[in-house]
Amino acid sequence: MDPSLTKSWRALQDHAASFDDLDLRGLFDDDPGRVDRMTLTVADLTVDLSKHRVSPAVLDDLIALANEVGLADRFAAMIDGERINSTEDRAVLHTALRAPVGVEVLEDGENVVPAVHEMLGRMGAFADRVRSGDWVGATGAPIETVINIGIGGSDLGPVMAYEALAAFRHERIRCRFVSNVDGSDLIAAVRDLDPATTLFVISSKTFTTQETLTNAQSAQAWLTASLGADAVAKHFVAVSTNATEVAAFGIDTDNMFGFWDWVGGRYSMDSAIGLSLMIAIGPDAFAEMLTGFRAIDEHMAATPIAENAPALLGLIEVWYRTFCDLPSRAVLPYSQALHRFPAYLQQLDMESNGKRIRIDGEPVTYETGPVIWGEPGTNGQHSFHQLLHQGSTVIPADFIVFGAPENAEFEGADAHHDLLVANCFAQSQALAFGRTAEEVAETETDPLLVSHRTFPGNRPSTTIMAPALTPSVLGQLVALYEHQVFTQGVVWGLNSFDQWGVELGKVLASAIIGKLRDDGTPDLRHDASTNALIQRYRSMRGR
Ligand code: F6P
Repeated sequence: MDPSLTKSWRALQDHAASFDDLDLRGLFDDDPGRVDRMTLTVADLTVDLSKHRVSPAVLDDLIALANEVGLADRFAAMIDGERINSTEDRAVLHTALRAPVGVEVLEDGENVVPAVHEMLGRMGAFADRVRSGDWVGATGAPIETVINIGIGGSDLGPVMAYEALAAFRHERIRCRFVSNVDGSDLIAAVRDLDPATTLFVISSKTFTTQETLTNAQSAQAWLTASLGADAVAKHFVAVSTNATEVAAFGIDTDNMFGFWDWVGGRYSMDSAIGLSLMIAIGPDAFAEMLTGFRAIDEHMAATPIAENAPALLGLIEVWYRTFCDLPSRAVLPYSQALHRFPAYLQQLDMESNGKRIRIDGEPVTYETGPVIWGEPGTNGQHSFHQLLHQGSTVIPADFIVFGAPENAEFEGADAHHDLLVANCFAQSQALAFGRTAEEVAETETDPLLVSHRTFPGNRPSTTIMAPALTPSVLGQLVALYEHQVFTQGVVWGLNSFDQWGVELGKVLASAIIGKLRDDGTPDLRHDASTNALIQRYRSMRGR
């Protein structure tokens, strides 16, 4: 279906023609009930949408658009196991990963929930053995370091959550995450380690990803050089859907934790891909995280769009990106623990909706997925916030902030946290309401500086607050964004669950690697620039 043919689409185009007139100062002045009406409470999250440049009429038409494209039916189709990932002929059932025992989710007529819980049970038993010291390495020593080797969805979710939930980690066990095929990543991770106390978790849905397999092979060589080949069984486990490749690599499938093709890589942190996280925080905290995910799944499934937080966040993004031509969105967690959250969201959003062909095979005639980027506050304030406040482009921002400091026991934690939160609130205030030339002129007499010191304001943001960053709250946050991304994909008519755009580079790299390593004179038949780059590299390496 072409969403641009709907009635609400045309109405939104009309609204967008006067986007410049949508002024936050005016919207707030005219409507004292705006903040209450536009602040949603969902589980532990409070989502303040009031600082968005949407009038009640725009919101009504966005909601009408969601209805015209069948958002609710599409979500129901997803959670009911329909094969909505049509280009890969797969169901999309990450929501089943957090379904409680007793709930039925059918995929091809079979209830998948018992298998999900059986796997959670196996993961939990293994995590408990590693945590208690019962699982020992080849020399009999307990594990002290878990290294997750994976990339994309097999890295970003676990590392983001491991960092976010630092306060909940096991005292003896630390995790490290190796993703980049640049050997420096692995070398930095193992340099100071004793192989005898190190466990590698090789995480790859397909178990064919070049970067992960290369890192895993080098890790295996590092380990066996000091402990011998028999040590692999005690120091390597795999997380994958591909038992054949796991066995071919040399990992016993008894030490493999599986999941299913209906879990997309970027939607997999709550599957067995979360094994390293579960070892760090324990099965109970992991289960608590799943309840957080589930709370938002239920909200998304059961709440009318007008009060549905992920749906409204997605619709507002569609408004900015498609109708108002705003190219990017900043994600600004005021929480050091969430320092990897923007990177996590980059894959979630941009690999899902960075597409220009609709699910029906037709090219879109409108802008789709925004560029997602960000850094934790307050650091960003001292680098790119200048552009957010006074640059020529309007960039909507997401602020994420918590009531409680992460390390409440630390002397001075309250003072730090109050300052952090004050800065967060000040940034969204400054972005929204700016400072007029008249206001600047009250204290500045030089007319030149008046213009330099004026802030245009009218720059939109969402503020998401929760009492504290707990496992459940983290699950809620991730699910909130998952369903926001889903909403955008449905409105744009995209398949948010494939990623064909990563294929070409993989194929070309396979063709180039042989030319780099060729002992003789390689037959270079690439474009002139690529040929020259290959020659330059070869000459740098004396080949
Ligand atoms: O980069 C493409 C991609 O397929 C991602 O979607 C995925 O998360 C990542 O590679 C890793 O894939 P795998 O888990 O199969 O190694």
